[in-house]
Amino acid sequence: MKKKVELCVCMGSACHQKGVSAVLPVLERLIDEHELQDQVELKGAFCLGPCVDGIVMQLGDQQILRIGPENIESRFVEEILPAIRSQVDAF
Ligand code: FES
Repeated sequence: MKKKVELCVCMGSACHQKGVSAVLPVLERLIDEHELQDQVELKGAFCLGPCVDGIVMQLGDQQILRIGPENIESRFVEEILPAIRSQVDAF
């Protein structure tokens, strides 16, 4: 079975206050739309560290900072999707 890339989303209190609960459904929809369900495992995480730069996500050893409900779509297409593809290709 093919290994999945883990995309961790911080569910800590600072990221919660910045709206992570509004980001998650959009993220799930984007993963579906791009047919990444077999390649990406979406996980909740405890505080990932840089709270002031929240909302924080982590993909492998790369942290993705300053995600928000207002920018998740564009950040996904421009940054997160290419990073997922390059990690999947590296398997
Ligand atoms: S609460 Fe999200 S990085 Fe600390």
